[in-house]
Amino acid sequence: TSAWPGLIEAYRDRLPVTDGTPVITLFEGGTPLVPAPTLSDRVNAEVFLKVEGANPTGSFKDRGMTMAISKAAEAGAQAVICASTGNTSASAAAYAVRAGMVCAVLVPQGKIALGKMAQALVHGARLLQVDGNFDDCLELARKLAVDYPVALVNSVNPDRIEGQKTAAFEICDVLGQAPDIHCIPVGNAGNITAYWKGYREYARDGVVDGTPAMFGFQAAGAAPIVLGHPVLKPMTIATAIRIGNPASWTQAEAARDESHGVIDSVTDKEILEAYRLLARKEAVFVEPASAASVAGLIKSSKAGRVPAGATVVCTVTGNGLKDPEWAISGAPAPVTIAVDAHSAATELGLA
Ligand code: F0G
Repeated sequence: TSAWPGLIEAYRDRLPVTDGTPVITLFEGGTPLVPAPTLSDRVNAEVFLKVEGANPTGSFKDRGMTMAISKAAEAGAQAVICASTGNTSASAAAYAVRAGMVCAVLVPQGKIALGKMAQALVHGARLLQVDGNFDDCLELARKLAVDYPVALVNSVNPDRIEGQKTAAFEICDVLGQAPDIHCIPVGNAGNITAYWKGYREYARDGVVDGTPAMFGFQAAGAAPIVLGHPVLKPMTIATAIRIGNPASWTQAEAARDESHGVIDSVTDKEILEAYRLLARKEAVFVEPASAASVAGLIKSSKAGRVPAGATVVCTVTGNGLKDPEWAISGAPAPVTIAVDAHSAATELGLA
């Protein structure tokens, strides 16, 4: 049949799997590359959105998790652990169910979106809220994975990067070439590392002619790579990328430098403007962190960094339903009416 087989089967020859690897899949990947006409007009380029919220648990993490959990199963692991700002824990919890494993997650207390918390809980993860930030959670998870029989499935696990690099393959497969510019939010910096690996592999093997310039964007209150030093108290409404000391810092800098790209910051105001533009003009509902790629594209265009007519892909990393707070607080409160057609018509401006 022609049904999408999941990314491990789709790209088996480019992934570290063998016939002996049990494939733990929810048929992730194969996500839409959606043209963005309003954005294209705005920046005078041809802009596409890689809509990663269309993955099974609603974020790009599923790409990394199908690989990480499959490899953990191959190695005989019975339990996995991760630190998370929410999406990794949601994904790990779901794939652990599929693999029959126990899943433990460490999240910063009060700083993960409600939808993500719901996902981890409904899939039966053992969730601990840590009185600290994501960076503290990751340090703790790494220690536990060394001292106890539990496999770490954060993006410091190379299998995660392998799975996530397939998004770059899909983009090239659809476009028939690599884009000129790839815009992506940066938190712990695993995803920019993964895309850059994927693009390089396709170019090396002659599947496409070149590689894009990688444009990574951190939130201004959590922009250690832009500032050149860790941020002890990272702050941003984009909780998914509220990270002060990214684990893949050097790999992100390498992606930037080797691709002749940039890593820049965007303010929460710019993030929310891009978030609303995506919903109102492109009909794509993302979570705030995801809008950082688009906010960054708009900022880069204003700074003259986007050549006219360039092909640009923005990864929008997670589904808007995970974090509805900003959708609701930014909208006028709905009006309540009686069961009455005339009042409805009046309120709707039809009468
Ligand atoms: N966008 C979303 C929606 C995310 O959840 C994350 C990371 C990123 C962007 C940044 O990706 O870390 O590879 O640079 N979320 C992690 C988590 C940290 O725990 O879910 P990155």
